[in-house]
This record gives sequence, structure tokens and C-alpha cells, in this order.
Amino acid sequence: MIHPNQPLALSAAKNASTVVVGSPLLAASPASSPAAACCSSQLQQRRAAGPGRRGAGRLAAPRCSTIEQAAGVSSAVTVDRTLTVTATVTVQPPIGVVYAARGIDDLTDLIGKTLLLELVSSELDPRTGKEKETVSAFAHRTMKQDTYEAEFAVPATFGPVGAVLVENEHHREMFVKEIRLVTGADDSSTVTFDCNSWVHSKFDNPDRRIFFTVKSYLPAQTPKGIEALRKKELETLRGDGTGERKFFDRVYDYDVYNDLGDPDFKIEHLRPVLGGDEHPYPRRCRTGRPHTEIDPRTEKRRGPVYVPRDEQFSDVKGMTFSATTLRSGLHAMLPALEPLLANQELRFPHFPAIDGLYSVGIPLPAQLAAAGAAAAAAGGAAASSSTNIVGGVIPRLVRMIEDTTDHVLRFDVPEMFERDRFSWFRDEEFARQVLAGVNPICIQLLTEFPIVSKLDPEVYGPPESALTKELLESQIVESVTVEEAMAQRRLFILDYHDVFLPYVHRVRERPETTLYGSRTVFFLTGASTLSPLAIELARPQSPTRPQWRRAFVHGPDATASWLWKLAKAHVLSHDTGYHQLVSHWLRTHCCVEPYIIAANRQLSRMHPVHRLLHPHFRYTMEINALARESLINADGIIEESFWPGRYAMELSSVAYAATWRFDAEALPEDLVRRGLAVRQEDGELELTIKDYPYANDGLLVWNSIKQWASDYIDFYYKSDEEVACDEEVRAWWEEVRTKGHADKKDEPWWPAVDTRDGLIGVLTTIMWVTSGHHAAVNFGQYHYGGYFPNRPTVMRKNMPVEENKEEEMKKFMEMPEHVLLDTMPSKMQAITIMATLDILSSHSPDEEYMGEHAELAWLAEPRVKAAFERFAGRMKEIEGIVDERNNDPELRNRCGAGIVPYELLKPFSTPGVTGRGIPNSISI
Ligand SMILES: [Fe+2]
Repeated sequence: MIHPNQPLALSAAKNASTVVVGSPLLAASPASSPAAACCSSQLQQRRAAGPGRRGAGRLAAPRCSTIEQAAGVSSAVTVDRTLTVTATVTVQPPIGVVYAARGIDDLTDLIGKTLLLELVSSELDPRTGKEKETVSAFAHRTMKQDTYEAEFAVPATFGPVGAVLVENEHHREMFVKEIRLVTGADDSSTVTFDCNSWVHSKFDNPDRRIFFTVKSYLPAQTPKGIEALRKKELETLRGDGTGERKFFDRVYDYDVYNDLGDPDFKIEHLRPVLGGDEHPYPRRCRTGRPHTEIDPRTEKRRGPVYVPRDEQFSDVKGMTFSATTLRSGLHAMLPALEPLLANQELRFPHFPAIDGLYSVGIPLPAQLAAAGAAAAAAGGAAASSSTNIVGGVIPRLVRMIEDTTDHVLRFDVPEMFERDRFSWFRDEEFARQVLAGVNPICIQLLTEFPIVSKLDPEVYGPPESALTKELLESQIVESVTVEEAMAQRRLFILDYHDVFLPYVHRVRERPETTLYGSRTVFFLTGASTLSPLAIELARPQSPTRPQWRRAFVHGPDATASWLWKLAKAHVLSHDTGYHQLVSHWLRTHCCVEPYIIAANRQLSRMHPVHRLLHPHFRYTMEINALARESLINADGIIEESFWPGRYAMELSSVAYAATWRFDAEALPEDLVRRGLAVRQEDGELELTIKDYPYANDGLLVWNSIKQWASDYIDFYYKSDEEVACDEEVRAWWEEVRTKGHADKKDEPWWPAVDTRDGLIGVLTTIMWVTSGHHAAVNFGQYHYGGYFPNRPTVMRKNMPVEENKEEEMKKFMEMPEHVLLDTMPSKMQAITIMATLDILSSHSPDEEYMGEHAELAWLAEPRVKAAFERFAGRMKEIEGIVDERNNDPELRNRCGAGIVPYELLKPFSTPGVTGRGIPNSISI
């Protein structure tokens, strides 16, 4: 990689020539070419056509630039030498669009009027102190596929090229991968512009795109010639906050979550606005759609949701990746299946019937199956077609029955069920999953006893817990008291009491849905495993009924044992809801979007921090937009299939208000805050539970990210003062706090970014949340939730002992298995959620894993390149360490008979549902 300061100077001598202004020699200059001559005349026409933009109006003699000319001297003078610079533009045509089908754009290509490129010098004109004239040329298509070429005659005094402006003369947008400039025939002079961006048609937007070189600059170090462009580009990206955004726009702005339901369409779809004093929430990307008639605060849900063009999925991801199916078809498939299931019982008749979803499957009606087969044959590419309802939605789940033409919807066997079909029923697996399952970030050290609710007793009833000292001590196998166990840091709690209790009555108004507040207390054994001691379920008082609460333990008899199983199922449904709404959606997808918006608005693309974060923001805005469209919306998949129903997003707002703080999103701080680690005097962490797979592997990844961020930041900032003086970083962080997370802007815990350490801490936290944290809570969803009794998303019946109704108790005593199945999700809910979790757990074929791909800008700096290579090496090492740990029988929370090894923080993966792999970004 060549430094952008080098190229023109390197080959100036080769192309030296002297010409005279006005001389015929100008046209016959060695630098001239048919393409350049053509450009020159076209450019003159353009100037005549309208007011110039930057550099326009001064392009009549792009190869002549003299002091005398600039000063207005009219005599014939000697002019600068010119150099021939060739630009090669590589584009990526959309998959499925062949050039023959491009119509008018092909004609444009044929006459050479395709992309207008304009080179911008990094230097100011020493005579005027202003930007130098730009040098322009049209790029024409070459024989090499997807490649365009332009030739420029550049004054030798032009200086390094700092930016290229691009105008797309086509009627369609083009995806420009990169632009390479070569001076003369000297390949060593190559300067690369890493574009990877959609360039809009000038007919949609006349503004030219600005691409900077791969060299990164802090704001104060920006070459003078491109300082104004740096500011202009950011202004473009910020927009003016008005108007409805169009598909091709690149504007990043903020808005509240007011587009989850459209009351004009259905009044029941009205949802509270999330964001603001009433319901604090992070902000999302502004789309500018009009508001509804019924509620002026709510945005209409009209057409696809806007996301800035470069945040949209690549063609590969869009066509092969099932995320798009969330929009195009899951909603279409499910109603189609409904009639099939309508005549059957709501629930599965017995547990083996659930197994049938993996072996026999659900027969599909002929019409659906035919459509499915067609789509499957097309590789799912036609997912958006209305005829491909099933196959287009989840082609890999639609199978043909052998020797027939019939099709079934058949699920893969989830890893957990494959290894041990009974493990979900056991207490040790229940406890193991709070440390090594898909939601290992909610378990906390028990630090206060007796346990007391902090909710208002006037509203919710007496605050004392049913988990008494005597009860807990009766369950601890060792002879220790509660006080001793607490002192030894051996009691832990999974606490879903105060957060859910206020919603119990409202959730119960929904048909076939119930809810309790719950607390589960665990004891840490000498083997570093957890043992569940007791579960408390609670219903708050209401105007007509008193509070109800009861503690459940394993019990010595069949009745107590079955009640314990039922109570455990309720806790699992609480954990499943909290996981999806808070651990997953809120803390990763939702909270990260403001960092992305602010980074694009305030950090120039040539800023090293922008370039460090860029891979970690890939596709997040698009997947979040899809989620608002089909997952978290009113009557969407989450509301339909999870117990909170219409309160789902509101609950995530409650959790955001009560618990979210940026500093605690750092893994070490999170562990310390939950009492799962103690910071020693030397700063090292000591884990409270030695075999805590999420923490053990997570800290390896965290430390590796932190080292990479430190090496990177230390290269670009030579002192803390340079950080403090970085106006773009300051503006970015200020905006994250005051606009993106505006409802928390006055909190005292926001870290400052006025030192290198402060900045490294913030960046490490963001990079961890988008990678390790998200991977840990996302890619195991099908492994653990694909067998829904292990993670029920909804509970449909109360505990039979809540009311002690004779009929319910009789049924429970006669057939407790049926009561458990009656309580768990219905067939329709189960199938919906299994299909959804299969999609959400899947890696795309174009996934980018941590430490796998370097940005060109990193490779351009030898020290940064070396630091990235060390980072990549560490990620490979972690692969091996994780494997070793999973084979260590001493580590019982990740190694044992029938146990799913803990691979959620193993860095790399193949495509599909694998239960491992840490992508850079949140893209599903
Ligand atoms: Fe996700």
C-alpha cells in the first residue's frame, strides 16, 4: 500500500512536458487521450449549462495551471508539466441484473458518459490560499467486467490527491467498490480509495459523492485542501432534519420509537411512544414518514422502513439470508399454516408429539408445498414473491417426503435435544444454563437478606419474600446457614420479581396468557456448579383479590416435584422474555443504533475512530428496521408469541430506565456489578464462580478487543491532549449522550472521552457489545429454544395451587404432564417461535467474524496492520482455548454427559445455525 503523498511526485519526471497556453500543443499534449479530449468538451458543456460547483468554471484547461494564468496575465507563458493519472473504478452490479437489461444506462456506457470523477488536491494553492482547481474526467467502461477507467492530465504541482468526487451519470445507482489511481505506468504509485458504497444517480440527487483516501486523519491533521470537504460530507450525512427520507438517501438522524403500530389501520395497534420522559428509550433512525390521523405522535407504517443506503444488506445477504424473510414471508406463512392447526388441539397431546416436529414434520397443503418447492429450487432467491409463501420464507425447513411429491415443514433437531432429550427436565441443566446458556447475564450474587420488594406495598401488597431463611437452609445440602453462605458468596438469585410484578394483571387480561413475578435462589456447590434451592412465584394484590405468593422447592414427593417443575417452567418463561426483550433486543440491537447514527453524523469517514468502529456497525440499522417492521411491531412475532404481548416493548423501556447504564455494559463492570467478579487490588478480576463459561471466554475476547483498541488509539493519538482536542470525537460522544440516549443524558456515569484511556474504554465497550455480547445471547437461541419446553415463550395457565380450584387440582393430580403441556406455548406459538429462532440463530454466508477482515485503512499503516494481525492471532488462539476448556471434565458447566459445549464465544463459524462464531456486528 502506497502512501497517498507519494504517487504524483514519484513519476513526475517520466511525464514531464512543457506546453504553452493557447498553443495547439495543448491539445496534442502527451497527456491527452481520446477519453480526456471527450471529457474536456463535455465538461465545457456542463459549465455552460449551470452554476458551477467546487472547481467548476475553471476547468477549460485542466492540464494548464500557471501562476501567470491565475494572476490574469494574458501573454504566452510556460505552464506546468502534466502527469497522466489513470483511475480504475471497480463496481459491483446487483446480483441478477445483467448489463443487457440496463437499457439507457448501457447507452450511456457506450458513449463513455458513465461516471464523472473529479480529483481533489490535498494541498491549497500557495498563490491564493484556497483549494486548488480539481481535475475531472469521465470514466468509461472497459473490456474487463465491472470496471471503468478514466484518464486525467494532472498538473505536476497538483500535490497528493486527497479525495475523489464521483457523479453517477446512470439512471440507476451503482455500487462502487474502490477507485485506484495510478500515475503513468508506475504501479507502485497506486492510491486506493476504499469506497464500498452506493453512488446515487445524478437524476435522483445532483450532489456528487465524496470519497477520501485510505489514510486516516484526526480533524486537526486534515490536509488543508480537503478540510472543507470533510465538513461538507458530515453536513450531508446529518441532513437538515426535515422531509421524508428516500431509498437512496444517506442521511442519519434521530427519532423516537413511534412506528411500532399504526392506529389508522387498526386502533388496537396504537402503542406508546418509546423515547421521552414517560417511556425512556434509545433513539432510532429518523425516516420522516408522515404521522397518523388518529394519533399525531405516531408515525405511519407505510412502505419499507428507510435506512441510510449504505446500511442496507448486501445483495448476498439480502438474497441468501433469511433475515429478509422476516419481512417478506414469515407473516405470510403463519396464517397459511393456521387452518392446518385450527382443527387440532391448541397444545401438543404429549411430549413425544413435540419430537414429531423434527422427525415427521407438519404436512403442508399441496398449494403451499408447490410454491415452497419452487422457491427452494430457486435457492430462496425469490423470497419476496407472494407465490413462494413457504419455500421463500424458510426454504431449509421445507422438505420433500421421500418417494413422494408431498412436502412437510420439518425442523432441525436442536443441539441440546440432540445430545440429551431429557436434560431440559433436570435441575442441574436449569442451573447450568444461567451460566452457560443463551442468557448468562442475569444471574446475580444475593447480597441482601431477607429479600424484600422495593415496589409500593400499597399497590402490590406486603413486600416480604416467601423465600425465608428456614426454607433456604432446608434445601442447602451442606450444613451452612444463609448468613454463612452469603458471606462465602455462595447464594445467587435470578430476580424477575419487581420488574414483572407491575405487569401481572395486565398480561393476564390477554387470553391464554399468565404471568407471575419470580425469584429463584441458587447455591454454589464445591464443584463450581449451581444448585437451585427454591422458586417464589407472586401475584400482586388487586382491588378484588389479595396478594398471592408461594415458595416451591424440589420436595420429597410426586406432587411437590411436579409443582416444582411447573414453577421452573414459569421461571424459564420469565427468563426467555427478559432475554429476548432486554439482554438481546434492548442491550445490543437497540442501544447500539444511536452510536451508529452519531458516528456517521460526527466522525468523518477519514477519522480513525470511524474506521475502527465501521465493521462493528455493519447491517445493524437494517436488521433493526426489519425488527420494527415484523418482529417487535404491534401484533408482530414477539407480541404474538411471547407472554408480554402488547407490553413487550414497553417492558424493555422499563428495563432501560431502571437498569441500563453505559459504563456497566463493559463486561468486567457488568460482572462486578452483578457480584460475579471482584476487582482485586492489582486491578485483576477474580470470578466468584470459577467455572462461569460466559465470563471466562468473554474476558478472553474482551481483553483481546481492548488490546487491539489500545494499540490502534495509541498509534493515532500521541497524547491525551490530542484526544481532548479532537472536536469530532467530542461531538460524537456528546451526541450519543444527549441525542441518541437523550433520556439518560444527565446521568453521572457517562464516561468521558478526553483521554486515551477514556476513549479506549468507550470503544472497547461498544466493540464488545456489538460482537461478544450479541453473539453470546443470539446464536444459541435455536440450540436452546428450538425445543420450546426448555425455554417457553409464553405460559398459558396459572399454577393449579394458586386458586386451588377443585377441577384444576383434580386434573393436575390425575395428569400433571397434560397440565404442563396446557401451560406451555400452543402449537402455533411453538412453530412460530421455532421458525423465528432458526432464522435469528443463523449466520449469513457473508458474515464477517472478529479478527477476520482488515479494513484497507488499517493495512495502509504498518503499525496498525501489525496490531490487527496480533488481534487476529489472539482470536485464533481463543478458538483453541475454548476447545480445550470444553474438553476439561473439571469444568462441569461446559463439559459433561450430554452437555452442549460452550461455544457461543468461539470466534469463527461456518454459515447457518452453528451455535458459535462472533461476528463483528449485530446483523441478525
Ligand atoms: Fe440479534
